[in-house]
Amino acid sequence: MPDSSLPLFVQITGATGWLVFNRPDKQNAITQAMWRDIPRLLEQLDRDSQVRVIALRGAGGRAFSAGADIAEFDKLRSGADAGRNYDAANDAAFQALANAKKPTIAMINGFCLGGGLALALNCDLRLASRNASFAIPAARLGVGYAPRWVHQLVSIVGPAHAKEIFFSGKRFGAQRALAMGLINQMFDAEELETQTGQFMEQIAQNAPLTIRAIKAAIDACAFYGHDKAHLQHLAEACYDSADFIEGRRAFLQKRKPVFEGR
Ligand code: COA
Repeated sequence: MPDSSLPLFVQITGATGWLVFNRPDKQNAITQAMWRDIPRLLEQLDRDSQVRVIALRGAGGRAFSAGADIAEFDKLRSGADAGRNYDAANDAAFQALANAKKPTIAMINGFCLGGGLALALNCDLRLASRNASFAIPAARLGVGYAPRWVHQLVSIVGPAHAKEIFFSGKRFGAQRALAMGLINQMFDAEELETQTGQFMEQIAQNAPLTIRAIKAAIDACAFYGHDKAHLQHLAEACYDSADFIEGRRAFLQKRKPVFEGR
């Protein structure tokens, strides 16, 4: 059973492993302790054989997350050394998401700002409600922004949109986010959870090894250099898998395949 009294908790529903930001009275702002917990919890979900898709959401219906907890900045993020330290914890959380082997989805139901948006950008896909709003207010707060994080936004929306987002620091809506390619799909708020659930169900029924190999190959094109031999190995492992036998048999037998990820 998830401990929903915690500011960050894991909840497994069917084949989906949820990571839930749970500070609704603070728009799900993320404290240093939460940043530090993210890699451990994601690793737990990535290892759990019941979980086929990892998804992030904010509790309370108003925010995915309004970013890092600004109230802690005086104590924890002031000065270059402290800033570097703080960013290392953020970066470990971003890397843990980016390195997850399973597909990752951000379900965005409201404010998705700063570090909250950076987390969403480190997911494979972003599904948002029509009333979601986005911003990276770094330039409005004087916060530094690591080049790797900039690179990632540029990979997703392109340099012109990335500059617009960073230079203005202003909030923009889901329609604009969709036009930029920042989100994959937009739904009416009351539909978001059902639509996201159905989408994840579809992914969960597909062959995990194929998805893992494709995810690694796409990330290698879009983000940073990966070892090509490793990518080749991931793709070849699909041919050796029991799932590939199951997939072609199920097709010929005109039934739905049951994949096991091996
Ligand atoms: N860090 C710390 N506290 C935050 C927060 C953050 N990133 N975002 C919201 N909160 C807190 C508010 O201070 C407020 O606390 P209080 O009730 O103790 O006063 C509470 O959450 C509710 O937010 P509030 O600002 O009253 O709601 P709103 O609907 O008027 O505005 C936002 C919502 C998200 C637009 C606004 O809170 C905001 O701009 N937050 C900061 C976003 C930001 O700059 N993030 C980048 C961090 S690097």
